[in-house]
Amino acid sequence: MSRRLSFYVHIPYCIKRCGYCDFNTYTPAELKGPDLLSVSSNYISAALAEIGMAHKVVGEAHVPSIFFGGGTPSLMPAQELASIIAEIRSRFSLLPDAEITIEVNPDSVTSEFLSEMRTAGANRISMGMQSAVPHVLQVLDRTHNPENVSTAVGKARAAGFEHVSVDLIYGAPKESFDDWRISVEAALSIPIDHISAYALIVEKGTKLAAQISRGELELPPEDETAEKYRYADDQFIAAGFDWYELSNWSRSGGSCKHNIAYWDGSYWWGVGPGAHSYLDNKRWWNVKHPNTYIQKVSEGVLPALNEEELTEENLADEFIMLQIRRREGIPLDRLNNKQIENCREYLTTGYLDEQSWRDGKLTLTQSGRLIADRIVRTLVM
Ligand SMILES: C[S@@+](CC[C@H](N)C(=O)[O-])C[C@H]1O[C@@H](n2cnc3c(N)ncnc32)[C@H](O)[C@@H]1O
Ligand code: SF4
Repeated sequence: MSRRLSFYVHIPYCIKRCGYCDFNTYTPAELKGPDLLSVSSNYISAALAEIGMAHKVVGEAHVPSIFFGGGTPSLMPAQELASIIAEIRSRFSLLPDAEITIEVNPDSVTSEFLSEMRTAGANRISMGMQSAVPHVLQVLDRTHNPENVSTAVGKARAAGFEHVSVDLIYGAPKESFDDWRISVEAALSIPIDHISAYALIVEKGTKLAAQISRGELELPPEDETAEKYRYADDQFIAAGFDWYELSNWSRSGGSCKHNIAYWDGSYWWGVGPGAHSYLDNKRWWNVKHPNTYIQKVSEGVLPALNEEELTEENLADEFIMLQIRRREGIPLDRLNNKQIENCREYLTTGYLDEQSWRDGKLTLTQSGRLIADRIVRTLVM
């Protein structure tokens, strides 16, 4: 029987780096090129070659999902992204109901791009909205005008995209509670079936981290950020979204199959610089720089930088770390007696759902989701 293999395709380019972001992405200026098309010119052929290598390693496989992430995939010409879908389709068996997602930036998405991608088989858009409030977008160093989000979502719907998601960030410096309320209301006023809302992480080495350490910006109090999560969760649920993972909510049929495949421990191949792959208890990750990546692939060698073999113990710990964030929770029979005893205090203090516990599962309540990391530390030692 053929196995299942999802594809993540990394597009490592952005026009400008947002102050908070430490993703593996490069601007034309960082790559010392005049514009994006010239710095990325050999990239897609390298990605196509890596897909050929994946086929040599894996052999036959059914592909249930493809995810173009970044960076900013919507900066690439649609026919180049379409050629990647076509290559996966020709080497593997792309399932008829496969989910094909493209991350897009509201500023760099046109109706032509969207309809070409739809024709190529893409059926899900994930848009970086972040906030609807201009001064918060400014702190986040985002270039887009907030009104572009609903215009871009309208274009995606008109192009026939069934599934549209937006990403929000809460807890940025200068974001008041009312600002967050405005962003949540704005997200709920557009025709989407999925929302990801992430608490801002101040990543080391970013412009934002430097601004905070120089005292130019200050993070809002932690309690307020926790209240923002509660508020968003209540509003999303009232609007017909269900939480299915700590930072992800969807309307019926809108949950992201690709992310679920990661959390389920399914196999995936990450194409592109810095991308991670997971197959047969082995994880590996590619060289980080796009030029090194292109060089390696053009020499016909796998662009992996390093790999690790996951032991039974690693896999059990990962299962707990990922599964605790999900609505289905952790089946109690996957925990040992000590882990169950360590969790009891969280049950009596309202952080774990009592009904689920009686049904044999450890599931976080809304309060529990706010301290998920602390609960994980009592389970994974
Ligand atoms: C890497 S971006 C790709 C999408 C696209 N480039 C964009 O930004 O619109 C994916 C998402 O990760 C989230 N993200 C990136 N850095 C983050 C950080 N430091 N803290 C919280 N969320 C972050 C943002 O919500 C962003 O939309
Ligand atoms: S556009 Fe997205 S990937 Fe690019 S720097 Fe900003 S958050 Fe990071």
